[in-house]
Amino acid sequence: MFKDKCVVVGITGSIAAYKAIDLVSKLKKKGADVHCVLTESAQKFLTPLTLRTLSQNPVITELFAEPHKWNVEHIGLAEAADLVMVVPATANLIGKVRAGLADDFLTTTIMATKAPVLFAPAMNHQMYVNTLVQENIASLKERGYVFVGPGYGALACGTMGQGRLIELEIVLAKAAELLFPEKPLRDIKVLVTAGPTREPLDPVRFLSNRSSGRMGYAVAKQAYLLGAEVLLISGPTEIQPFPGVKRLMIETAQEMYRAVLAHWEDCQVIIKTAAVADYRPKTQSREKIKKQSGDLLLELSRNPDILAELGKKKKEQILVGFAAETEKMLAQAAEKARQKNLDFIVANDVTQEGAGFAGDTNIVSFVFPEGQVKSLGKMSKDDVAKHIFQEIIKKRQAKE
Ligand code: PMT
Repeated sequence: MFKDKCVVVGITGSIAAYKAIDLVSKLKKKGADVHCVLTESAQKFLTPLTLRTLSQNPVITELFAEPHKWNVEHIGLAEAADLVMVVPATANLIGKVRAGLADDFLTTTIMATKAPVLFAPAMNHQMYVNTLVQENIASLKERGYVFVGPGYGALACGTMGQGRLIELEIVLAKAAELLFPEKPLRDIKVLVTAGPTREPLDPVRFLSNRSSGRMGYAVAKQAYLLGAEVLLISGPTEIQPFPGVKRLMIETAQEMYRAVLAHWEDCQVIIKTAAVADYRPKTQSREKIKKQSGDLLLELSRNPDILAELGKKKKEQILVGFAAETEKMLAQAAEKARQKNLDFIVANDVTQEGAGFAGDTNIVSFVFPEGQVKSLGKMSKDDVAKHIFQEIIKKRQAKE
């Protein structure tokens, strides 16, 4: 099943290291070319000899050992790898990778590889729930590293909790997913808009909204993982796009309008997650507006409705909007889906806990112009993005 796939198994210093022996044996049986890398602490739990015998390859334990073949070995292996797995992964190793450290063979391989990297953490429960470890894991996930487990149960330190190395069958299933990813959006161009717009009043002030860009960046990432070529047109945000996603930064609604209009025709799927300002200040002061006695009245002009414009122009494209509502969510969203000629709209009630702006989760309903509604429970924005593409892929298949 893994025939001809080069799999690097990194093993770190955890009591669960002994389970890596079984993992290597299972990978070999599936036909993989397995290369084991042991950290210094892993060598206190396992001997290279066992792994060498099972993998039928030299086991790497040092960064500066004599290379087995003449190339810079850690780079050679990083380049050859189809998958790098770290099983078990300790809090220490995860922290080092998050910090960008590369001071041994395993961390240099992880740093230098373009292959997917899968971590199966194993550690004491209190260590696992420590906010530092959780932040490190969240940050690595955001950058595209994949985690599986840990599981819940009795731990070697005598306590119960989440921290056990997850069952190897689950690790192997995840490895198969990463080695043979489905790419149903191969050869498809996807345009995603994300984040807020900023409408300047003067050189220091602007009108904007609470969008962080998270939802749109999750949509762009998912499109890329499904094989699409992705253009993300983004308002101001601190978030970095998923590696491989092409990004165009804009600031105002009018800039977003021009950028979208310049690119939409090349794309087969357009998803407008951005929270675009409907109005902008009628005039923009060149100088900082001075404080005066009494109130200040602002006059606002309408911004173009980018999505409505695309709805009028669209040909074969699949056009998906978002609706941020604070009342009568389904009715308002259905109205927008019809008016803007959308394939469907993703409605979220932004007053609901765990939904809408800024957080990592959302609670959405897909509302179709014909009136059907599909409501999803609370889930991560990454998972919402997965559901959106399931729907889009169904629609594309129906059109073919
Ligand atoms: O970025 P996050 O912090 O993760 O938050 C996510 C989100 C709440 C911003 C997102 O889930 C969301 O709801 N996005 C749509 C926000 C919005 O502007 O909704 P709306 O109902 O005002 O607009 C409807 C649709 O028309 C949207 O697809 C919007 O991009 C589009 N629109 C709106 C106005 C305008 N002038 N041009 C547009 O294209």
